[in-house]
Amino acid sequence: MTTSDTVVPDRRKVREFARHLFGVYTSGVLTFMIDLGHRTGLFDAAAAGPTDSAGLAERAGLEERYVREWLGAMVTGGIMTFDAGSGHYTLPPEHAAALTGDGSKNMAPMAAMVPLLGRNLDGIEAAFRTGGGVPYSAFSPHFTGVMDQLNRRPLDELLIDAWLPLVPGLAERLAAGARVADVGCGTGHALVLLAAAFPASTFTGYDIAEDALDRARAEAAAAGLENLTFEVTDVAAFRPAEPFDVVFAIDAVHDQADPAAVLRGVHDALVPGGTFVMVDMAASSDLEANVGNPFAAWIYSISTLHCMTVSLAHDGAGLGAAWGRELATRMLGDAGFGEVTVQPAPGQALNLIYSTQRPA
Ligand SMILES: C[S@@+](CC[C@H](N)C(=O)[O-])C[C@H]1O[C@@H](n2cnc3c(N)ncnc32)[C@H](O)[C@@H]1O
Repeated sequence: MTTSDTVVPDRRKVREFARHLFGVYTSGVLTFMIDLGHRTGLFDAAAAGPTDSAGLAERAGLEERYVREWLGAMVTGGIMTFDAGSGHYTLPPEHAAALTGDGSKNMAPMAAMVPLLGRNLDGIEAAFRTGGGVPYSAFSPHFTGVMDQLNRRPLDELLIDAWLPLVPGLAERLAAGARVADVGCGTGHALVLLAAAFPASTFTGYDIAEDALDRARAEAAAAGLENLTFEVTDVAAFRPAEPFDVVFAIDAVHDQADPAAVLRGVHDALVPGGTFVMVDMAASSDLEANVGNPFAAWIYSISTLHCMTVSLAHDGAGLGAAWGRELATRMLGDAGFGEVTVQPAPGQALNLIYSTQRPA
């Protein structure tokens, strides 16, 4: 402090923060490079073993000059290593585990979220100034495919074996034969897995996005599933002709224009004693409690860039992805549900699994 009350910044801290900031910007552009590596198959090619830039370009069927520049970013960005003697580049096996393969550990598909969410910065800047938001349609047609890629692998590995057992009696109910819905089902992969695993049950997926449901129908048909249908529906006006025994909502409530109406609709669509399973982001409703949560900055950022703005675009509630367990639990209660169980989603640290029943 000087004799006046002007705060003089500590020069060392300014330098440290500037370095941190540049690291943030570097991570931003490296994310584009990871997305390119995933799209072009470079990570799979690199995982096949050390090679020089020409060898890697040949393996991946790409232009060597681009591959060499990309490798420069990968090496200096701490993703690959370089041996100057042999001129060989290596993707360490531990890094290959996080960037290749069909399992949920492959984080490479997630990189596509960053360029996708950067597409509408002008519209979001305008909304900062004048209110409103950028609608789902502005993220089309890319959103459907990116979302599918983001959730497909975790669902393959975790939905049936790790998530269903968290809800006592649910797997047994599905095995015995139940009427099941998924609201905001997107490309429907969760229901494809469930319909294949529980042939005695019938499943209906609801979404407002026709392109997502086209994909969902194609996947269900390719799998030969006859116990699964999809309907284009605004789930804020969810009034099925017959009630359901179980309803799922996977990452599909917080960005609704009218989430309270969706939760009420789900409640009313269940038989008494019916189960609602909601998968949503792992956050507290309280900012202070999110400080130190390593996922929180991601959650607030994707919320500003997508989840909150698509809701506000329709004059909606704008809950945002960090609406958090306290508010979510309260809103489930307001919709008429009984006691809510909230558990971390095994294998998916970004999510919580809420389960509750319509009172009998
Ligand atoms: C974040 S995505 C999640 C999709 C899917 N459940 C998954 O896990 O991949 C949210 C989905 O909700 C859908 N959605 C948003 N508002 C809707 C509404 N009012 N009625 C029906 N679907 C809606 C979107 O089209 C999108 O497919």
